[in-house]
Amino acid sequence: MKKRLLDFIVCPSCGKDLSIRAFKESEEEIEDGLLLCSCGQFFPIINRIPRILIGELRKSVYKQFPNFFVKYKELLPVEGFKDINYDKLQKKKTLKSFSYLWSKYPKDLNEWEKNFKFYFEPIGGLEKLKDKVILDAGCGNGRHTYCASKYAKEIVAFDLSQSVDMAYHYNKDNHNVHFFQADIYNLPLKRNLFEFIFSIGVLHYLPFPEKGFKKLIGLLKDGSGILVYVYHSFPKTSLNFYLVMLTNFMRRFTTKMPYKLLYFLSYPVAILSYLIFVVPYIILTKVFRIKKLTQTNWPLKLYSRYPFNVLINDTFDRFSPPLEHRYSKQEILAWYERKNLRDIEILGEGGWRIFGLKK
Ligand SMILES: C[S@@+](CC[C@H](N)C(=O)[O-])C[C@H]1O[C@@H](n2cnc3c(N)ncnc32)[C@H](O)[C@@H]1O
Repeated sequence: MKKRLLDFIVCPSCGKDLSIRAFKESEEEIEDGLLLCSCGQFFPIINRIPRILIGELRKSVYKQFPNFFVKYKELLPVEGFKDINYDKLQKKKTLKSFSYLWSKYPKDLNEWEKNFKFYFEPIGGLEKLKDKVILDAGCGNGRHTYCASKYAKEIVAFDLSQSVDMAYHYNKDNHNVHFFQADIYNLPLKRNLFEFIFSIGVLHYLPFPEKGFKKLIGLLKDGSGILVYVYHSFPKTSLNFYLVMLTNFMRRFTTKMPYKLLYFLSYPVAILSYLIFVVPYIILTKVFRIKKLTQTNWPLKLYSRYPFNVLINDTFDRFSPPLEHRYSKQEILAWYERKNLRDIEILGEGGWRIFGLKK
């Protein structure tokens, strides 16, 4: 954690400023330590990343990083970590250092740039990100953080999962980037501060997606823009509608599977989907040049532009989260209208990419 992150964060419980107690630091960063609030809250900084989670979610940090808690037991204030069971942690000490899925994503800068341009199309030119203080909400492996950091003055990024560790790893040479682990519903961020916010493929996984969206709007400076990508719904007349129903049905079982097994099964499903939908689309549009098809909702047509491993990873993504919401154009526009956002730009294809400015 760079000390500059303190300019952006506050205690998620009381909103007061936080201070740092370092256990281990290098010239530029706090490697291990604590964030402290005068209200009595403590948040661990582990492997250079603050883990700012409260309530039940806090316990997941103990499970993810038992080594930290065992190593620094003597330095941790007893009143701040009453709920730790050190005997249990001692047994867990061999846990992996980052979430399973993200370890499967290779760093592929060409692909990342291509994806970034696609998602950011509605903002009307990437130069609009120039010298802005930006928030990446739900950064995953940090691929968009990486691309946006080339334009941003400072970019702050968070994720609920341990994917932030992978995101940190990919962005470690970018000096204007800051990460922390937190839940979108309880963010430790100052209000009205960010000059651009983006959240790509995150809100539709929340139990209450619009509530997450409203939290982000509160962090945005007046006159600044927010870009969101969420899945779109399909009419009952489309084949996609039934494919989504089938996916939702299968998710009842797949969400209970171990990650390794699910990732393994994503291969045959992706191969089958590619053969049934993507290959005919490529043949019809590229060999027979039936250009009209590019304007249709042909299932999975987006994957004709990406390497095959993107479909494997997206297949895993589709079957692993416990829930997923989908929106019509009117429904997603209504989010922006209810918060009085102006100059709204919306584009389809694979989902809604929607941008608007706060008044
Ligand atoms: C499909 S990934 C997208 C990641 C990234 N935005 C991208 O486009 O590569 C969805 C991400 O949302 C994160 N997420 C889900 N619920 C969240 C929450 N309540 N708070 C913060 N992040 C959350 C997940 O951990 C996951 O990394």
